[in-house]
Amino acid sequence: MKVFITGGCGFIGSNFIRYFAAKYPRSEILNVDKLTYAGNLENLKGLEKRKSYRFLKADIANAAQMKKTFKNFRPEAVINFAAESHVDRSITKPDTFLKTNFLGVGVLLNCALEYGVERFVQISTDEVYGSVHRGKFREDSVLNPSNPYSASKAAADGLVLAYYKTYGLPVVITRSSNNYGPYQFPEKFIPLVVFNAMENKKIPVYGDGLQVRDWLFVEDNCRAIDIVLRSGKVGEIYNIGGQHERANIQVVKQILRTLDKPLTLIEHVKDRPGHDRRYALSIAKIKRHLGWQPKTSFESGFLKTIKWYNKNRDWLKNTQTGAYRSFYRKYYSKLGLTET
Ligand code: NAD
Ligand code: TYD
Repeated sequence: MKVFITGGCGFIGSNFIRYFAAKYPRSEILNVDKLTYAGNLENLKGLEKRKSYRFLKADIANAAQMKKTFKNFRPEAVINFAAESHVDRSITKPDTFLKTNFLGVGVLLNCALEYGVERFVQISTDEVYGSVHRGKFREDSVLNPSNPYSASKAAADGLVLAYYKTYGLPVVITRSSNNYGPYQFPEKFIPLVVFNAMENKKIPVYGDGLQVRDWLFVEDNCRAIDIVLRSGKVGEIYNIGGQHERANIQVVKQILRTLDKPLTLIEHVKDRPGHDRRYALSIAKIKRHLGWQPKTSFESGFLKTIKWYNKNRDWLKNTQTGAYRSFYRKYYSKLGLTET
């Protein structure tokens, strides 16, 4: 299969490319990534040697560049991971979220239509449903996003479905809960807590810390996305939930215990505006129709993750200081390219 993957240098995208390349060695992968602060070529180290893997530094919102790329590569499938993904950044600077997460998706949909793509997978999020006090969201629940990030993702979901209804573009949407695992940028909760704890730095817990997230090990999500890509029904949405709900403060305490660090590192700070109290997904649909359910328990995924960050302290440090950018420069000069 010829797959056009966007945002492949980020957390979930890079895990997915590794998963997909290992499972389908004959597949052809083009990874299109703008390399924002969250994109890191180091996440895919080793893959550049593979003949059937290619990387292109490009912006999904650049229509001319995308059109040229589709024309040259002629993908059978598109999987769109590219996004601005951090809620706190969307609150202080929403503009890039609208551009990438909505307009960029529009550009990809137009190209997919023009070049006859057989499957367009939009990677969305449980955050489009907003917060739920009791019960769980189903795929047909009302969308009620609370911040510019989730609103931009909800808008994109609407656009993706419109291209199916209006033009018959074969789309599918996945909405997953909070992922965790190797290669997650340390502005997100779990790697941030691990990093700060390892450095004996204070751990900022927003508000009372009783907000609940449903944690999904990234490998389980990659497996689900692959199943949806191959067997998902066109025009459908699939929730992908970890089924491991934890309050933030519980997660922090568990990390501190595991790393043998004192609870005095915890610092309750001002709450995030519009902070969703609880996310929870029903996974009945994907379980019944596609036979997927998470395999990794929170305890084992969590231990794997902490061990990985512990073993890859340099990666963690480099992402925070931006030192990995020197890796890009070497990579680009090897390819005879200049960074734009
Ligand atoms: P990430 O921030 O780690 O990675 C995003 C990647 O997209 C980066 O490599 C970045 O360089 C690239 N990118 C950003 N703007 C781009 C543009 N205009 N053109 C091309 N590339 C661009 O994000 P992630 O956590 O890996 O999330 C991937 C997808 O999964 C996103 O669509 C996100 O909304 C969704 N999602 C994430 C989670 C989670 O817990 N992380 C949960 C549910 C859904
Ligand atoms: P985050 O990883 O940003 O994911 P999302 O907001 O998309 O769910 O945050 C997860 C939870 O952790 C969320 O309830 C906000 C909280 N949080 C903190 O308490 N402190 C922090 O420093 C961060 C980054 C998040």
